[in-house]
Amino acid sequence: MNYDHIFSTHLQSLKAEGRYRIFADLERLVGEAPYALWHTPEGKKKVIVWCTNDYLGMSQHPEVIEAMMKAATRYGAGSGGTRNISGTSHSHILLEREVADLHGKEKGLIFTSGYNANEATISALAQALPNCVVLSDEKNHASIIQGIRSGKSERRIFRHNNLADLRENLESLDPKRPKIIACISVYSMDGDIAPLEGICDLAEEFKAITYLDEVHAVGLYGPQGAGIAAQYGLQDRIDIIQANFAKAYGVIGGYITGSELLVDYVRSVASGFIFTTSLPPGVVAAAHKSISILRGNTILRDKLWHNVEMLKGRLEKGIVPFQRVSSHIVPIIVGNAAQCHDVCDILRREHDIYVQPINYPTVPRGQERLRLTVTPSHTPEMIHHLVDALEDVWGRLNLSLAA
Ligand SMILES: Cc1ncc(COP(=O)(O)O)c(C=O)c1O
Repeated sequence: MNYDHIFSTHLQSLKAEGRYRIFADLERLVGEAPYALWHTPEGKKKVIVWCTNDYLGMSQHPEVIEAMMKAATRYGAGSGGTRNISGTSHSHILLEREVADLHGKEKGLIFTSGYNANEATISALAQALPNCVVLSDEKNHASIIQGIRSGKSERRIFRHNNLADLRENLESLDPKRPKIIACISVYSMDGDIAPLEGICDLAEEFKAITYLDEVHAVGLYGPQGAGIAAQYGLQDRIDIIQANFAKAYGVIGGYITGSELLVDYVRSVASGFIFTTSLPPGVVAAAHKSISILRGNTILRDKLWHNVEMLKGRLEKGIVPFQRVSSHIVPIIVGNAAQCHDVCDILRREHDIYVQPINYPTVPRGQERLRLTVTPSHTPEMIHHLVDALEDVWGRLNLSLAA
């Protein structure tokens, strides 16, 4: 068997389709956001980053960095083990209390990433409930899908944000079967927001557990940055709220919050929680500091929303096709992997703008796009520069124009 040939054939087909992934070799320097240094074969080049998930720039916040350094100096660089074997520190307990309090839940549980939190929790839940069905929004994240697969329960996919289809699926199921409805509050690629109240109503009517991923919402929406469920006063009606510390909080790690019993069950059985080393104290302290800062004031959030509005307003007046959605995410559909790659290439080489092309399987084929994110540190000049550059590239590549 020629293994190399098999791998190389797979890679060739990715390249032929224009969706071979090329990582940008960047140096993001503290105090210089949204600029970063790009290492290219021709040397270093300064670019403006327009696709970060560090939505508020918290990864560079002086108090967050200080908290990380202090904790590392005091407690060491690593946590020392899994949570069960000496890897539980007091800072883990405090952070779990903080996230539980943020979401108005009895208990929180920290994981090493948001992916890990989804995968481990959903699979553990599905395994606990005999003959369970997970009703999953068709645009759920890979980690939710993987959790359902690992849990080996039946999966019903309902059309994206479609309450009628969710109802139809629920009606077709035996009322006695345990059910979990799993969805996301802010969908990261389309930037749209789930109809949470309707989902909660259906969950109550059909006695389903609700599982909500707030990864792209925490820190940005709702009182104290608690997310979309909090914004709409629905926290009490969601059984499990999952999120992470890696987007608006600017660090890394994931978590769930829920009832004492449910979280204790996940803590006790979820393989992806039990059998991995816990987050280092520096990371835990930095995440905790970031949450506290964003609970305490809305200065960065306000600045972000001001910039989001400015970017959307400029795009709406121009030639680049752009659909306004209610979140902070600004998707621009190109609709073809090779063209999407070309757009990003010209932006980077000629306009010093870094945006990553988004291709299949992150989005369906034909829906390839740019996914722009603006931060509080982008200036009005940078926003105008971006839109001018996009219009230049759109014209040169003859891409479809706004209607
Ligand atoms: C909706 C959603 N859930 C979960 C995750 C995984 O989070 P993490 O990056 O912390 O693993 C992501 C990552 O982008 C995501 O978009």
